[in-house]
Amino acid sequence: MTERLAANSAGLSRAAELLRSGGLVAFGTETVYGLGADATDPLAVARIFEAKNRPRFNPLISHFADAAHAFEHVVADDRARALAARFWPGPLTLVLPRRANGWICDLAAAGLPTAAVRVPAQDSTLALLGAVDRPVAAPSANLSGAVSPSDADHVLDGLEGRIAAVLDTGPCRIGVESTVLDLSGPSAVLLRPGGITVEDIEAVIGPVGQSVGSDEPDAPVGPGMLKSHYAPGLPVRLDASDVAVDEALLAFGAPLSGARLVWNLSAAGRLDEAAARLFAGLRVLDREGAALGLRGIAVQPVPDGGLGAAIRDRLSRAAAPRPGSGSGSGGASDLSGGGLVPSHLQRNIA
Ligand code: TXA
Ligand code: MG
Repeated sequence: MTERLAANSAGLSRAAELLRSGGLVAFGTETVYGLGADATDPLAVARIFEAKNRPRFNPLISHFADAAHAFEHVVADDRARALAARFWPGPLTLVLPRRANGWICDLAAAGLPTAAVRVPAQDSTLALLGAVDRPVAAPSANLSGAVSPSDADHVLDGLEGRIAAVLDTGPCRIGVESTVLDLSGPSAVLLRPGGITVEDIEAVIGPVGQSVGSDEPDAPVGPGMLKSHYAPGLPVRLDASDVAVDEALLAFGAPLSGARLVWNLSAAGRLDEAAARLFAGLRVLDREGAALGLRGIAVQPVPDGGLGAAIRDRLSRAAAPRPGSGSGSGGASDLSGGGLVPSHLQRNIA
């Protein structure tokens, strides 16, 4: 049963408490309702994908109470600071390099070296984000493929019983998602049009490039970016039923025997735990495996239902041949960045 919380002080503190303990809470923004989770907690973020029934781990936007908090986790240059000063709080999302000591977890960033951040223009939601005092990841609060919700009833239509609570902050003023602008490279690139127009942005930072769009709602639309970013340096072999002497093992459930280097996604065979441990596992096996002179990563079968589809999707991208790279070059550094969660936030999910 999903709690419906009023946007008063009792409702806000309940919503903050749920978020801080790993629960899913939907809340209004000026654009659409977001399905929030603690962006520093990969298990909480995994539950977003599970609740939405999303077959893919798209990178999510982290929400903050103000620019100063956002820029503790990503590197803001002059363009980012100028745009934040002009448009935040408001419907503009900035994609920026993750800080090495930032708290946004790999799953929220889909393993990318960048992260999307924004400060929504909704007073009670800003109060909530201030109370949570951590990055809050939030895609639109609808089942995958359904329309984005613009009031609390819409949220409950799709997600009743699948999330802990919805904070009813009233109808959304704008109703379409924020503009997404990639500032991680030398030239600014529009990834998704939205409430803030290119002209508005160009008036502040000068020319903005357009990326090639996608037909798929919520698809990452960066210029060819995502596919190659998901790959570790070592070749990945899926659905393995044995392990070679020179392979690391990404296990699920009871591990195959014989591997010198093993990362178990979930010894208990839980998909939410496997999703939460996926990016860390690829990164660790890639780095340690290379150091040990191993030549590949064998992956045990992960079942296809629910979150399993998203996990398998990500693994198949990791296993896909990489154009223009010999075996073992390239990908490793793309899985680095971020993730140094302070010990008081670390949860033992092994
Ligand atoms: O208005 C909004 O932006 C709403 C409210 C809830 O804030 N949120 C939203 O989130 O629309 P979502 O997950 O549906 O869309 C996030 C978009 C996707 O197009 C995603 O690919 C892009 O932001 N994105 C996130 N992180 C990115 C990154 N590191 N690089 C490139 N694109 C990124
Ligand atoms: Mg969406």
